[in-house]
Formats: sequence, C-alpha cells, structure tokens
Amino acid sequence: MSSRSTLVQDGDLVQLVGQDHKNFIFRLYKGEQLQTHRGTLNHDDLIGLSWGSRVYSHMGKPFYLLQPSIHDLLLDTRRNTQIMYPKDIGFILLNLDIGPGKHVVEAGTGSGAFTTALAYAVGSEGHVASYEVRPEMAALARRNLERVGLVDRVTFKIKDIEQGFDESEADSLFLDVINPEAYIGQSKAALKPGGVFGCILPTVNQLSRVIPALKKREFAFIEVCEIFLRYYKTIPQRIRPTDRMVAHTGYLVFARSILTPDAGDNQYDQDTDLVVEDAEQDL
Ligand SMILES: C[S@@+](CC[C@H](N)C(=O)[O-])C[C@H]1O[C@@H](n2cnc3c(N)ncnc32)[C@H](O)[C@@H]1O
Repeated sequence: MSSRSTLVQDGDLVQLVGQDHKNFIFRLYKGEQLQTHRGTLNHDDLIGLSWGSRVYSHMGKPFYLLQPSIHDLLLDTRRNTQIMYPKDIGFILLNLDIGPGKHVVEAGTGSGAFTTALAYAVGSEGHVASYEVRPEMAALARRNLERVGLVDRVTFKIKDIEQGFDESEADSLFLDVINPEAYIGQSKAALKPGGVFGCILPTVNQLSRVIPALKKREFAFIEVCEIFLRYYKTIPQRIRPTDRMVAHTGYLVFARSILTPDAGDNQYDQDTDLVVEDAEQDL
C-alpha cells in the first residue's frame, strides 16, 4: 500500500488524474511508459517528484500525481461481476467490526472489490478467507489484490460454500451471493459465538427468506438497512445535488450469532429477537 514518503518512489502505486477527472492507476517502474489518449508519460520523469505535483504528457496535457486512496482502488477494480461499492462497504466494515487483527470470512469473492477493502482493513496482523465457486473469478480477484499489494492478507478458496466453510472461529462473515438464505447454517458454523454476520441483497423479496433463516439458526439483533449517498456540485455559486445518483445497490443485513437455547441457560425469543433470561432462575 501507499508509503508515508512525500516523494514518489520507484515501485509506488500512483494515480494520475487528468482535467476531466479521468484517472490512471498503475505501479511506477524505471524505464517504463504510460500511454494514454492524452499522450505519453515516462515513469522516470515521475520518480522523485512530490506527491500532488502537476505533470504533463508529451502532448502537453496536464495531470496531477497522487497516491490512490482505498476508495479510488475499489472503483478501479478490474471486474467481471457486479462489485460492491464504497458507500456500502464503509458501513459494512463498521458493522462487522472489521479492523486490524480481525479474521474475516467472505463469499463470493467475485472480482475482489470487497476483498480489497477487507484486506486493507484487517491490516498485516489480520486475515481474510475468501470463497468463490468459479476459478476464473478467484484468479481475477487474486490479480486485483496483487496489483494493490494486499494479496498476502487473503487466502483464496475455490469452493462452493454449500459444502461449508473451513473456518470455525471467524470474527465476522459476509455473503455477497445470489441466495444467502441457503448458507446461514454454514455461516453459523464458521463464526465464533457472538460473531457478526452480514449480507447484501439486491431485492426486498430476498429479505423475507433471509430473516427467517437467520432466526431459525439463532442469529439475534437482526438489522436491515440501505445506504443512500448523494453528491453535490462544488461550483461555489451553484452548490446543489448532482443531476444523477446511484439510486440502488442493495439491502444490507446484519445479525449476531448467539448461543443456541440448548447450549445455555437462556431462551432466545424469536418474536422480540432477544435473548431472555430463564425466569425460573430468579426464583
Ligand atoms: C456479485 S459477485 C461478488 C462480488 C464481490 N463481492 C466484489 O465486491 O467484487 C458474487 C460471486 O459469488 C460467487 N458465488 C455464488 N454462489 C456461490 C457459492 N455457493 N459458493 C461460492 N461462491 C459463490 C459467484 O460465482 C460470483 O463470483
């Protein structure tokens, strides 16, 4: 990932942003060239400059030289599938309590956009196990993670999660597959007690299948939400919302894995979605 150096170095991941916000993200190597529709830039001419410098192609077209943010990297994911977007990912990371040192499981890997965010968030001490049934998708995601220097934090597993996960004490687990309700039992088995489950669903109809499936497997504190994000034009005289927005990506579901009623003294009340203490114990 990006270094704290103020100067651009050989091997750095860089982002060149042109006038129309068209951007190019690539790794700098001595002797190489970047070819764009706005002209060519020699990597050697960029190495040693300060981040934020204005540079020019051989056609005289200007670019700014920046370190790509994780947001930029997610949007730049090479993709063959629908990917998850930053507006959802940010909230999911908080709800799943994903931070340095956490062990996280996800399926499906797809193009690896969410995998990239997970690998970034768990840091060098944490780990991500990412499941994908299609080998070609896992290979694409691996290339995407290699490109941003995060591949060491991920174990890619080519496996249908119908057969279950290999993990049993994950801190959190997230599903981005077409029918998450079919894998709630497998998810329960992969999570540590109290671990956090999450999934994303494109349609409301699926919620009516996922919620009962979660309740049946003793997941509690079930929450459903969706995230709206509206950008604004930044022209000082005319500050107002942009004309277009992404109106829908998916519904987010979160829940906590609790102990089964048989395993403890407490009862799980499916109607209130809460664990209630056994009244007889107070007698
Ligand atoms: C929408 S994509 C995931 C995109 C990913 N979250 C991202 O941000 O790039 C869904 C992926 O789940 C995979 N998938 C679907 N069912 C699966 C299963 N039962 N086991 C493993 N992977 C599965 C599909 O092959 C597909 O690549």
